[in-house]
Amino acid sequence: MRILVTGGAGFIGSHTVDALVASGAGEVSVLDNFSAGKRHQVNPKATLYEIDLRDAAAVASVVEKARPEIIVHLAAQMDVRRSVADPAFDAQVNVVGFLNLIESARKHGLKRVVFSSTGGAIYGEQDEFPCTEDHPKRPVSPYGVAKLATEAYLFFYKVEYGIDYLALRFGNVYGPRQDPHGEAGVISIFCGKILDGQH
Ligand SMILES: NC(=O)c1ccc[n+]([C@@H]2O[C@H](COP(=O)([O-])OP(=O)(O)OC[C@H]3O[C@@H](n4cnc5c(N)ncnc54)[C@H](O)[C@@H]3O)[C@@H](O)[C@H]2O)c1
Repeated sequence: MRILVTGGAGFIGSHTVDALVASGAGEVSVLDNFSAGKRHQVNPKATLYEIDLRDAAAVASVVEKARPEIIVHLAAQMDVRRSVADPAFDAQVNVVGFLNLIESARKHGLKRVVFSSTGGAIYGEQDEFPCTEDHPKRPVSPYGVAKLATEAYLFFYKVEYGIDYLALRFGNVYGPRQDPHGEAGVISIFCGKILDGQH
């Protein structure tokens, strides 16, 4: 099986790549522009492509080489505040970047996409707690809008081209390799303070 992990140098992506390589899942490739990801986190057994998702020609060239049957799409502009300050940049990475990828991959045997959506930003102001998956989706940030749009595009690609998909609406993920100062770093910040004896 040929698997391409976008954002494979990042926090969640690097663990995903490690797990895929360890499982012997097949040929694993990583696409990342290192805007947030770290070179030393890229599993040496994966083939690395250092490009930006916004560069449609570069994305097409990577897809032609890697010919992924599965894409785990984790790369993103994930700063909610930046998405509010610059919605166009957010959409270029999170919407157009995704379209660059899937438009190319669908012509080269793509079967399935696993997508990192968001639990924290897709529902907006909640009517009820805890929030279920069926809660109305009313995102109040361009980041949330882009994640919701990507889920809708994935539905389109399933209906039109039979590409299966799974959209995972992550909450605040935490663990080793996380940037504690980044978006969704709350658990990491609390843990750091507890370890420092601060309460
Ligand atoms: N961490 C969380 O709690 C959380 C919560 C909800 C959703 N998510 C989603 O999960 C995914 C992974 O998050 P993470 O915490 O591992 O973040 P991360 O910043 O560690 O990883 C994102 C990766 O994408 C890469 N990237 C960014 N822009 C790119 C571009 N234009 N072209 C190519 N690569 C690019 C970065 O260099 C980085 O390696 C993201 O899609 C994020 O929106 C994360």
